Amino acid sequence: MSTSLTIIVVGATGDLARRKLFPALFACFARGHLPADVRFVGLARTALTAEAFRQKLAEGLRCEEIEAGSCSLQAGEFLQRCHYIRCEYEDAAGYTAAAAQLLHAEGGHRANRLIYLAVPPFVFGGAVRAMATSGFLPRGAATPWTRLVIEKPFGRDRASYAELAAALAAVCDEEQLFRIDHYLGKEMVQNLLVLRFANSFFEPVWQRTCISHVHIAWSEKQGVAGRAGYFDQYGILRDVMQNHLMQMLSLIAMEPPASLAADAIRDQKVAVLRAIVPLERDDLVVGQYVAATGAAQRGYLQEEGVPVSSITPTYAAAVVRVATPRWQGVPFLLTAGKGLCTARTEVRIHFRNDATLFDGVTADIPCHAVTNELLIRVQPAEKLALRIISKVPGVGMQLGSTELDLSYREKYPTQRIADAYENLLLDVIRGDRSLFIRSDELAAAWDIFTPALQQLAAQQQPPLPYAIGSCGPAALHALAATHGIFDTAELEGAP
Ligand code: BG6
Repeated sequence: MSTSLTIIVVGATGDLARRKLFPALFACFARGHLPADVRFVGLARTALTAEAFRQKLAEGLRCEEIEAGSCSLQAGEFLQRCHYIRCEYEDAAGYTAAAAQLLHAEGGHRANRLIYLAVPPFVFGGAVRAMATSGFLPRGAATPWTRLVIEKPFGRDRASYAELAAALAAVCDEEQLFRIDHYLGKEMVQNLLVLRFANSFFEPVWQRTCISHVHIAWSEKQGVAGRAGYFDQYGILRDVMQNHLMQMLSLIAMEPPASLAADAIRDQKVAVLRAIVPLERDDLVVGQYVAATGAAQRGYLQEEGVPVSSITPTYAAAVVRVATPRWQGVPFLLTAGKGLCTARTEVRIHFRNDATLFDGVTADIPCHAVTNELLIRVQPAEKLALRIISKVPGVGMQLGSTELDLSYREKYPTQRIADAYENLLLDVIRGDRSLFIRSDELAAAWDIFTPALQQLAAQQQPPLPYAIGSCGPAALHALAATHGIFDTAELEGAP
């Protein structure tokens, strides 16, 4: 990339900027993925000198496999290119002054500008309005371009999303807007389309006659870990399920796109999201973690910043129905929770197995009890595995269940798996929109969740308690059983 580029992180002193964005920018810079003429500008409300800002950033820069000597040189060069501008987020005059500082840092020639909005969601609307009024965010896709990146939460429900969408549409064109769901930048999530559509043998079995159910599971061991102020306003359904899990679901359930063009893919994602039956309260189990004897972590209500009577769910399970000819009758079970016994994100596709030919043969478990399951593990330790029944080697005939296993660490030991933010930031710079969410996708995802969220809000019932470090509320099993899903070990997060 040869053109001059300025990357502006608005909200540069926040958690997202410090933990994810600047380290990802550094990784892209150190690996030579950015133009030679690049600079990074942090913009925030705190009064900081450029030097103090650089010191803060330095703590978060990781080198991973870059050799230590070269790493410190690269880090030094990266930090020299980092600037800091103090500005109130909703102050147009502040952005006018900031624009002058930017131009100065660019040597008087306007560079392409990527503006990443890493600020709390309640300032999104005010911030973009002020940027537009001041000329900091010019409308249109002209060159040099200005692109705006925003990240969830995109509203709290369908109505608040519509407000946000209108505020954004009033100031910038769709071509300038990049809505991030960072799960779309994860290696295995990117691989979903490849897996499905580069291996055509999957297509005839990827449907209701061959698949009994799909489980998309997301779990973290830690609780809200210092983010209670944000999390308590949103809860797990809005924080993770409506976005990260629904994005994965749409890639698994969509019809084949006509091409790899961003809109061809996103058209099919929208179509499948629109075919999902909106969730009702009865389709859900919601829980909240509580303290457990011997556990080091606190219960949710004891976390700093959580109101003592909060009924915000930290766990949710939902059964989603996709009303298309391909998926009619196939339940998609989504589970997501914090403070659980495992930390992982995975998709499990369960194929039907009606084989009876070997019913009389010794086996570790009867064949019909073994699901041919395709496991797509997003994290940790990326892996694809297919559970099959095979003859146990040796004399005589004994059957056993085993795995065809593609573990990335073993298969690609020298290949670095880039962080999701690195992939996505580079796509914004290239202008590739395939991994970014279109406005109608978000509207469709909110249509699925809004009725159940409204019912939960109206009921005002406390979520089911589950001990921190446990496998979540036992009610999950009853919900799953209603849809013919009985795999207790899997539901409890067994590997
Ligand atoms: C964020 C959620 O979007 O994703 C967090 O707000 C969650 O609650 C995080 O912890 C998980 O991201 P990752 O990439 O660590 O799996």
